[in-house]
Amino acid sequence: MNIHNETILILDFGSQTTQLIARRIREQKVYCEIHPFSLAIEKIREMAPAGIVLSGGPFSVYDSDAPHSNPKILDLDIPILGICYGAQLLILQCGGQVEKAENREFGKAELQVLRTDGLFAGLETGEVHHHQVWMSHGDRVEVVPEGFETTAISAHSPHAALRHDKKPLVAVQFHPEVVHTLIGTDVLRNFIFGICDCSPDWTMHSFIETTVKAIKQLVGDQKVICALSGGVDSSVTAAIVHRAIGDQLTCIYVNNGLMRTGESEAILRFFRQTSKLNVIDVNASDFFLSELKGILEPEIKRKKIGLGFIKIFEDEAKKLGEVAFLAQGTLYPDVIESVSFRGEAPIKSHHNVGGLPEVMKLELIEPLRELFKDEVRKLGLELGLPEEAIYRQPFPGPGLGIRIMGEITRDRLEIVRQADVIVLDEMKKHGWYRKVWQSFAVLLPIQTVGVMGDGRTYEYVIAIRCVDSRDAMTADWSRVPYDILGIISTRIINEVRGVNRVVYDISSKPPSTIEWE
Ligand code: XMP
Repeated sequence: MNIHNETILILDFGSQTTQLIARRIREQKVYCEIHPFSLAIEKIREMAPAGIVLSGGPFSVYDSDAPHSNPKILDLDIPILGICYGAQLLILQCGGQVEKAENREFGKAELQVLRTDGLFAGLETGEVHHHQVWMSHGDRVEVVPEGFETTAISAHSPHAALRHDKKPLVAVQFHPEVVHTLIGTDVLRNFIFGICDCSPDWTMHSFIETTVKAIKQLVGDQKVICALSGGVDSSVTAAIVHRAIGDQLTCIYVNNGLMRTGESEAILRFFRQTSKLNVIDVNASDFFLSELKGILEPEIKRKKIGLGFIKIFEDEAKKLGEVAFLAQGTLYPDVIESVSFRGEAPIKSHHNVGGLPEVMKLELIEPLRELFKDEVRKLGLELGLPEEAIYRQPFPGPGLGIRIMGEITRDRLEIVRQADVIVLDEMKKHGWYRKVWQSFAVLLPIQTVGVMGDGRTYEYVIAIRCVDSRDAMTADWSRVPYDILGIISTRIINEVRGVNRVVYDISSKPPSTIEWE
């Protein structure tokens, strides 16, 4: 279902920065989608994109297993921009030659623009004007194909940018999508507005209008359910589906007893009172705690919590009678069939509502499946959700269950809850809550010796974990000032019964992960 007027198609050749290209284009209020380089030509025709971007990639065009897109796309009369590997492939397929460069270029380079129209419209030209760009290539274009001319050069790329005289084909050796390419935004704007003739009309406002219309049409007068977790994605999903179909939507909130203090109350109150959304609030703490009794192994904990959730949710949904759809907050990074040339083994079985649609034979509605996280936040604000719900740090589906090492008991839950409140409270107070990706407490149920007053203590350890990340795939420990860590530590040891030691986790991901289990 393509509900957008103008789309830029990005064909992915496996570059680390492919998603970045998409974000930069969307920042210009033009919709775009990422597909594998092998997308069938019929599909491309059907999609009728306003332009195509060929991404970079880790290969040399002459490698025996190098990915090649169908050269017929060059005859579709759709503007094409090749970036790095994409540029080399475009030139090769048009009859030019690419070779291993003697001097590979990695990092910053100086670009001299030869023509200030097309991709470089509005930019300074000539020898005195050098533009900082970011390069990352071993190969380079050596022979320019017929019909093409060179539009920019750099010290080690005699053809750092090229264009066709008559066809809308352009190629750049550098990466316009990365911030170190200072003219990157100009180049992308020139491509999407100048060459592809797009209009900047893909805004959150227009997104809401088209999405609401599409949901209404799909759902008709049937019923929809949605699992509300208190997190950003499910809240925004519920809000937009509710905007479309009102009372036909019922949300189910399963309290598994592993939530933080006050975690979900605020968002539930908002939905009930301000938007008059139907929310069924199920307290299943006892069920989950008895399921988890005696379980120490992280994967078994995760499985039990996931299966328990499906059971409770299904029981509640049955009470609603005939339901046709399940609304789910899947985001674009989970949908993109990015070309990955490395096999990836699952590290942890993430808990989400993935198993539900099959079990319950429901059709899915995923209104956020085209959006990146920052776009979801913008959408949430536009829909009127409170800021505190929108800028909430991610919280894992299995909740505090995977932040208590070893067995989950009520006492241990109480300890980690109290410590967690203190961490978040102090991070917020000192303006660090929104600076980091996540900040939380982990309970290590090993006891260590301490001294309080005149007496010996023998109590648990709390680990503080604060990380910086863009997308949770990689992360580094946050350099939270010692003074703030000091305050957090003192408060936890003074205020939380059963803890006499606090440590700070200084591991990055990889090789560690963000959560401890
Ligand atoms: P890890 O621990 O794998 O976590 O580095 C990466 C990010 O995912 C969150 N996380 C989860 N989120 N269900 C979720 O919805 C899960 O089962 C789950 N496990 C981890 C984690 O908090 C971090 O942001």
